[in-house]
Amino acid sequence: MSYEFILTEVRGDGERKTGLITLNRPKQLNALNDGLMNELGAAMKAFDADDGIGCIVITGSEKAFAAGADIAAMASWTYMDVYKTDYITRNWETIRAIRKPVIAAVAGFALGGGCELAMMCDFIIAADTAKFGQPEIKLGIIPGAGGTQRLPRAISKAKAMDLVLTSRMMDAAEAERAGLVSRVVPAAELMDTVLAAAQNINDFSGPSVMMAKECVNRAYEGPLAEGIQFERRMFHSLFATEDQKEGMDAFVNKRKPAFKQR
Ligand code: HXC
Repeated sequence: MSYEFILTEVRGDGERKTGLITLNRPKQLNALNDGLMNELGAAMKAFDADDGIGCIVITGSEKAFAAGADIAAMASWTYMDVYKTDYITRNWETIRAIRKPVIAAVAGFALGGGCELAMMCDFIIAADTAKFGQPEIKLGIIPGAGGTQRLPRAISKAKAMDLVLTSRMMDAAEAERAGLVSRVVPAAELMDTVLAAAQNINDFSGPSVMMAKECVNRAYEGPLAEGIQFERRMFHSLFATEDQKEGMDAFVNKRKPAFKQR
């Protein structure tokens, strides 16, 4: 499948591989227009449905993961355009429905919708060149794809207010201190690090990976007691899988497990 605004590749050498999606509007710093978001959703759904793929990585260019929604495209939209058609957020919901892990590999600018897209991924690994921000206030708008909700959960209300209200950018070191990103690495090592993390996940049992993702999302989205109950049910259900038998037998017999379930 060929796309206009993104590139897709399959990477890795294990039995299950990584679906790599590169945002590809370099001249516009990967500004997220409707077409790009449509393609991104379609590519992610295709990788999610492919048994040969264990997880998905989204990345941009050295200069920008994405500098936000496409301002030129939005500039003339009226309230009725955005309300009736649900521009631009309608396309963003696809990402939330992806069941396999999704890692954001961020170098350069991740601003506005770019920061929101990174936060929709399951975790972010950043290059030391990364810059995060929600500068929508400068345009007379506010974040519209979850920024005001995910940022306070990720980095505290104080820092979220600071970024959203002042429009200032946060560098990679601050983003790591604040808990927005899981790791910061030198820019030249970004893709090797992310693809190694992805391959690590690919080699585990598919059902346990998917359930682990679902459980952590419960913690992020719901009350503790409900999350604990949900986790317990998921935990118990994994004892019905062959991979649980394989994983534990391998440990007991001091050998490497060969997980089979996708
Ligand atoms: C459209 C964009 C763009 C964007 C950059 N470009 N960001 N086009 N939408 N979000 C274009 C520029 O117009 C320019 O095109 C080219 O990319 C290079 O950008 P420069 O500004 O020349 O680069 P630089 O001076 O290095 O500055 C980089 C930058 C700046 C700091 C990232 O581009 C910037 O502030 N961009 C806007 C960031 C922003 O406000 N994002 C939030 C958008 S609103 P030309 O043709 O001149 O070369 C949003 C709402 C989300 O995201 C809602 C989700 C539902």
